[in-house]
Amino acid sequence: MWNRFLTMSCLGTLCLSPGATLLAADVPHATAVTAPISVAPYQPPADDSMPDDEFGKLVRLGKRIFTDTGKYAGKYVGNDLSCANCHLDAGRLANSAPLWAAWVKYPAWRGKNKMVNTMEQRIQGCFRYSMNGTPPPADSDELKAIMSYSFWLASGAPTNTDLPGRGYPALDKPAEPPDFERGRKVYTRNCALCHGADGQGTKAEGKIVFPPLWGNDSFNWGAGMHRINTAASFIRANMPLGKGGSLSLQDAWDVAYFMNSHERPQDPRFAGDVKATDKAFHQHQCRYGDKVGGKILGMK
Ligand code: HEC
Ligand code: HEC
Repeated sequence: MWNRFLTMSCLGTLCLSPGATLLAADVPHATAVTAPISVAPYQPPADDSMPDDEFGKLVRLGKRIFTDTGKYAGKYVGNDLSCANCHLDAGRLANSAPLWAAWVKYPAWRGKNKMVNTMEQRIQGCFRYSMNGTPPPADSDELKAIMSYSFWLASGAPTNTDLPGRGYPALDKPAEPPDFERGRKVYTRNCALCHGADGQGTKAEGKIVFPPLWGNDSFNWGAGMHRINTAASFIRANMPLGKGGSLSLQDAWDVAYFMNSHERPQDPRFAGDVKATDKAFHQHQCRYGDKVGGKILGMK
């Protein structure tokens, strides 16, 4: 459902401009933040410092699962994606929801499932929705390995704090409401080269080179990325690949709107009726249940 719109994130008189990072410790002293505060992001350890023991083995397996999920955790995956397609640089890159920043924030409350989630449960969530699959059990080798890799990436990071670079940076509202036709033009100019004119990505010798953005092999209607605001922030910070930050605010919103106006796998919480599923789970910025080209999204 396309109904709500983000404004600048404000806390009393304190507002954040895009890209600004606010540390909890700043709040009591600051009255207004006008310029982005730049803090060097936490640096995870280098891959060659992975230990040579039982723990190191699991850390290495975790990295392999994260970067080639279909190959190393195939039975839990229902699409053509790998974790690292959305959590770039194998889960290391600031502003693409890096694993080290997540690690220090769990357990945490999630409005999505209305409970305090452990890190395992958060990872299971991405298997269910972003990977359109079946969550591996908490005591499976696959989940233990991703946990070990995340824990290792966060070695030495301060705990229970919002590290700069966590998640995707929130975006200001665009001047114009996002638009499908403008989004299509942005897509053709900036994205089609890699993701394909039809959004289906590119494979070489059966391996994904550029991941699909919609359709049966993409993330499903329950995934965070199907939200226009989440996709717009990811895209603005990270796409076109290697040229993050180059799209205008308007272009990022328009192309996110266009991308998420296409069919994708059903929301796994679907209970037989698009309207009811829309009402129960899609009261946010998305196109689930909207009519596009004569068809209701979520109905296929
Ligand atoms: C130069 C090639 C290239 C261009 C151009 C490009 N991307 Fe990507 N994109 C990638 C690659 C590669 C990944 C996966 C990143 C990884 O695994 O490290 C990706 C990942 C993504 C993802 C997350 C994974 C998925 O498939 O859902 C989205 C969303 C996305 N791109 C959207 C866009 C949009 C929108 C544009 C245009 C503004 C764009 N990309 C331009 C190469 C590109
Ligand atoms: C289609 C894109 C996509 C794929 C693929 C994906 N995720 Fe995510 N992931 C997201 C989004 C979106 C968020 C929420 C980010 C935000 O809210 O800023 C997220 C959040 C997370 C978080 C919590 C981050 C935080 O700081 O709270 C973890 C942990 C995570 N994902 C792990 C995984 C794992 C493990 C896989 C592979 C099994 C995976 N993700 C695959 C898009 C994806």
